[in-house]
Amino acid sequence: MDIISVEHLSKEYREGEGVVRALDDVSLTIGQGEFLAIIGSSGSGKSTLLHLMGGVDRPSSGTVRVNGEDIYQRSDEQLAVFRRREVGLVYQFYNLIPVLDVVENITLPARLDGQEVNERRLASMLRSLGLERQEHLLPNQLSGGQQQRVAIGRALLNSPSIVLADEPTGNLDSKNSAEIMSLLRASNRDLRQTLVVITHDENVALMADRVVAIEDGRIVSDERRA
Ligand SMILES: Nc1ncnc2c1ncn2[C@@H]1O[C@H](COP(=O)(O)OP(=O)(O)OP(=O)(O)O)[C@@H](O)[C@H]1O
Ligand SMILES: [Mg+2]
Repeated sequence: MDIISVEHLSKEYREGEGVVRALDDVSLTIGQGEFLAIIGSSGSGKSTLLHLMGGVDRPSSGTVRVNGEDIYQRSDEQLAVFRRREVGLVYQFYNLIPVLDVVENITLPARLDGQEVNERRLASMLRSLGLERQEHLLPNQLSGGQQQRVAIGRALLNSPSIVLADEPTGNLDSKNSAEIMSLLRASNRDLRQTLVVITHDENVALMADRVVAIEDGRIVSDERRA
């Protein structure tokens, strides 16, 4: 069954006098449990597409259906609830809250949603991410790779049905990158989570079930791997 269905999606940004067409009539369906990699050059529209699939921002035209429901028919408040409960989004530039420490950042979506934090799950997440000794540090006291791992922990803690990760290994060396990808892959397999990863790393793309390439806001190839 398709969990995400994107139809004729376009996004334009005003830039001074002109308009930038970041996404140009993109259609794409993603099945539940699928692991999809998105590749494409800088500025091609990858982050824009990921954000629109995650209920961040609104499209200029077209629809995004999740489990058959057009998410942009919802109010901002309903969209916020959708993002907290159903989506784990790892932002390209992390978007950590500077005044909150590692644990507070990771548990924020759960707490905003009024859920009790599962301490055992949190502890095991911190261990898997190699952040046990950084628990009470603030984002500006962390390396880029550590901040990236906090963003991944925040996205995964709630076991969302959809994980959208924007270059989740962009700031990691090859060893850490392989560890983070196996964590995401395990979560995808064990929970039948739908996983969409933007990457410039060929090794990451090679792990995916399917690779979609974007250029100039359009899908230029869509290949399922055997
Ligand atoms: N908030 C914004 N305001 C204006 N233009 C934007 C905005 N966000 C993105 N754009 C423009 O939309 C286009 C696509 O941007 P996007 O961030 O989706 O690219 P990307 O493929 O993720 O690139 P990168 O690999 O560098 O992260 C670019 O031309 C960018 O300048
Ligand atoms: Mg981007």
